Amino acid sequence: MQDKILSILKEIEDFQIVDKETFEQFKRNYTSKKGKISILFEELKSLDKSQKAVAGKSLNELKNKAEEKEKLFQERYENLNTKNQQDLTLKGITQFQGSRHPIQITLNKIITIFTEMGFQIAEGPEIEDDWHNFSALNFPENHPARDMQDTFFLENSQYLLRTHTSSVQVRLMEKNELPIRAIMPGRVYRNEEITARSHCFFHQVEGLVIDKNVSYADLKQTLEWFVKKLFGENTQIRLRSSYFPFTEISAEVDVSCFICSGVGCSVCKHSGWVEILGCGMVDPQVLINCSVDPEIYSGYAFGLGIERITMLLNKISDIRLMDQNDIRFLNQFQHFSLF
Ligand code: DAH
Repeated sequence: MQDKILSILKEIEDFQIVDKETFEQFKRNYTSKKGKISILFEELKSLDKSQKAVAGKSLNELKNKAEEKEKLFQERYENLNTKNQQDLTLKGITQFQGSRHPIQITLNKIITIFTEMGFQIAEGPEIEDDWHNFSALNFPENHPARDMQDTFFLENSQYLLRTHTSSVQVRLMEKNELPIRAIMPGRVYRNEEITARSHCFFHQVEGLVIDKNVSYADLKQTLEWFVKKLFGENTQIRLRSSYFPFTEISAEVDVSCFICSGVGCSVCKHSGWVEILGCGMVDPQVLINCSVDPEIYSGYAFGLGIERITMLLNKISDIRLMDQNDIRFLNQFQHFSLF
């Protein structure tokens, strides 16, 4: 009996349980009701009392050994099938990394530059009334910008979707917390045909400074600083005389083409200059409309289109790409930090 026990013990120790199949084989051979150990227990019954005690003890030890080995594999096998113990050699699951929208990236840059210069950020409503969008800003009653073609009117034309962020200038001045030094980013709407270059909604950043002794030189200096920060140190600016109802004097600002450095390319239409914003000194009548005394205060304002600047900075040729949510387009901006 002892010999049999020892030889089965050796078998058990040598047995390699590597998978479910060999595990089942092990059970069949040793621990099942018809296995070798059960058979030995049957044989034990026919032994003399004197032998029984010793053999019984060894047999129990053998049984424990077999069961231990069985349990060990079972635990390992179960663990492998739970989430806690994954196979570290498996290929990882690819995580989709999102990216900021190119418009947001440009806006963040603009905000950083102006806040570093001490500008605050203000916002106003997208649904506006005629006063804030037009009348207070000196738009004559018959100005074409009020035409149904340009403006989305709501409810008996009493309200409209703002056509520009200049409306927020009015709201800020009306609060009368002077001086003002703020930029106002936001979405604007125009009843225009959607093409590669124009859209029925887009984004602007408005700027407004109202204080004592604000001059045209301050405006020019601020814009020059901004442009160099955004497009590069070597960028030049050019102010061209223009007209806006709410500024006097008014100007449009061109920057030296940062793509060809003024030599001439398709972006600047071979002129060496690219237009990026409108600006001017706040018209005294606008100050009066907003209860600001033009005898004490003066100010400047500017407005720029974020889409246009984003397109220039990233060489994007079609504005419609901005709102199509095409993942192939958006993924190209992943290299910009998310935070
Ligand atoms: N509101 C003008 C537009 O949408 C842009 C603009 C021009 C804003 C001159 C200004 C400004 O503040 O001074 O076309």
